[in-house]
Amino acid sequence: MKPRLIRALVVVAVVVTGALLLFFTVAYLLVPLFAWLSPTLNPTLYDLGLYGACPLQTYVSSNVTGLRTTTIQWDESCDNGYVFLTPTGDSAGAPGPTILDSQGEVVWKAEGYQITTNLKVQRYKGQDYLTFWSGRKWGSLGAGSYYMLDSSYRVAYQVKAVGENMFGDLHEFKITNDDTALLTVYHTVDADLSSLGKASSGWLTENTFQEIDISTGELLFEWRASEHVDLTEGYMWNPFGGYLRSMPFDYYHLNSVDKDSHGNYLISARHTHTISCVSPTGEILWVLGGKHNQFTDLSGGAALDFSWQHDARWWSEKEGILTLFDNQEGGVLNREGPYSKGMMLKLDFDNCTVELLHSYVSLQETRAPSQGSVQFLSETNHMFVGWGHSPAYSEYSVNGTLLCEQHFAATWLHVWNRAVSYRAFKSATWVGHPKEPPAVKIDDQTLYVSWNGATEVVAWELQGAMTEADDYEFSELDVIDKEGFEESFELTDLWEYSRFRVVALDRTGQILGQSEVVSYHYESGWWRFIFAVLAWGLVFTICWHGYKRLWRWKHTGAGGIKWKSYELQTRRIPK
Ligand SMILES: *[C@@H]1O[C@H](CO)[C@@H](O)[C@H](O)[C@H]1NC(C)=O
Ligand SMILES: *[C@@H]1O[C@H](CO)[C@@H](O)[C@H](O)[C@H]1NC(C)=O
Ligand SMILES: *[C@@H]1O[C@H](CO)[C@@H](O)[C@H](O)[C@H]1NC(C)=O
Repeated sequence: MKPRLIRALVVVAVVVTGALLLFFTVAYLLVPLFAWLSPTLNPTLYDLGLYGACPLQTYVSSNVTGLRTTTIQWDESCDNGYVFLTPTGDSAGAPGPTILDSQGEVVWKAEGYQITTNLKVQRYKGQDYLTFWSGRKWGSLGAGSYYMLDSSYRVAYQVKAVGENMFGDLHEFKITNDDTALLTVYHTVDADLSSLGKASSGWLTENTFQEIDISTGELLFEWRASEHVDLTEGYMWNPFGGYLRSMPFDYYHLNSVDKDSHGNYLISARHTHTISCVSPTGEILWVLGGKHNQFTDLSGGAALDFSWQHDARWWSEKEGILTLFDNQEGGVLNREGPYSKGMMLKLDFDNCTVELLHSYVSLQETRAPSQGSVQFLSETNHMFVGWGHSPAYSEYSVNGTLLCEQHFAATWLHVWNRAVSYRAFKSATWVGHPKEPPAVKIDDQTLYVSWNGATEVVAWELQGAMTEADDYEFSELDVIDKEGFEESFELTDLWEYSRFRVVALDRTGQILGQSEVVSYHYESGWWRFIFAVLAWGLVFTICWHGYKRLWRWKHTGAGGIKWKSYELQTRRIPK
């Protein structure tokens, strides 16, 4: 090789190594240090990613990693209920369904499931369950099943799609008033795609929804999009889709299904920009939006403005009012409007008209290229919007006034998929009583306590048993309020105790649970002190000795000795 080439390669290697070193220093040293030094995160710096793309926190008494959220806007009326998220992404730590309190503190996180979506509280046979999808995910599709956890976080039901090669998809799992489940299935079928200018023997993503009897797992109803909706109704531009089995073409993208009191299904399809009503016999009764829209817009185009949307729900079936999440974007190649929004629309079926009642825009006019949700909170008469691909959730008055907004990762970095939650929900009714006892761990004279998923704890009581006592009788030592996921007690002044346990108290002072007993051998501070004095003494002696030798050599050796050639010159020093 020519020397010039070698020199160039060396320069490249040095530059790349330098850049990598700089990156790792910033990412793994400076950012965590910065986040650690800031107990309250500044919202602007947070959104820019200065504390990391998704600031996390770890605990001593639990292995879970929790989110560190920031509050962008706050109103006291939002201080009600819990927030339900499924954070995933390259910076979001171990994925898992997560419950936060209204202030953004972690209440529950489970890390044993794979990728999860759609965590929410749903009612089945008069009882509340925590429901979510769990499985494997490719791009925007999933293959898995649906879990229903009881109030102790045990799996009470696992619901699966019915049919050969039919797997539950991540987009929908809705328990109806008839105690049945609605779910979506995306499966690949061979199809004639010549109407799209593609191969006549091509591959299509069939979009199916099923209604399942939860108690028996029996299939009650099934609807396949391609049997009712023409392939040419889609807006999705994907020149490569449809030629290979591994890359089928998804023209419809069904992402929400709900059932009304007449037994009709309300469905949202992202790639056709349509919200449709399907009868119990499978017939399409009406279509709002898309290429064959049947409604006249009374709001001058603002009501039919939605595109690439998610999560269509009846707000008032009787009044014909529905809500949806309008993405306005289906990835970089399919961008319609400047920002995403929640929408409330009123339909009139006699006159076939639609009217925009309210819209819900985030403080930063966030764009969500995918995912997102809108939920009505009946307890407070608020609307709750999850920004899907953008790690944020907001709460509004029904009329669209923004009340609160919280971020769970840096929103400016959201295009890089650092942390997302498919949907975000809020519920004031969830009560969690974990089966496991509260977790305690002592680390360096501090006792840490947490109880993953316990919602009713308001205070922790530290109890201790005397070292000298034979019967290990516990007495109350201290009581502190529970504010975050983990709290701690200092043990420094409790040297006469050798066993500790912590008791969880509810708001009436009743005991909810009790940790296991941890034994602790008090380490006298004197030992540490003596050890420190000895260690410093040793360091000082070595330094002093070295200094003395140097001094002697400098003043007795030959003149003009260079520091650099110390080794060389010392050999010549006369004894
Ligand atoms: C945390 O993880 C360690 C090692 O994986 C395990 O031994 C320990 O029991 C876990 N602790 C908790 C509280 O889950
Ligand atoms: C239909 O439109 C007409 C004229 O705009 C209006 O008078 C009537 O009340 C509408 N029908 C309903 C059911 O709202
Ligand atoms: C929206 O509703 C809230 C609470 O109901 C009210 O305080 C506010 O003034 C309303 N804003 C508008 C623009 O009507």
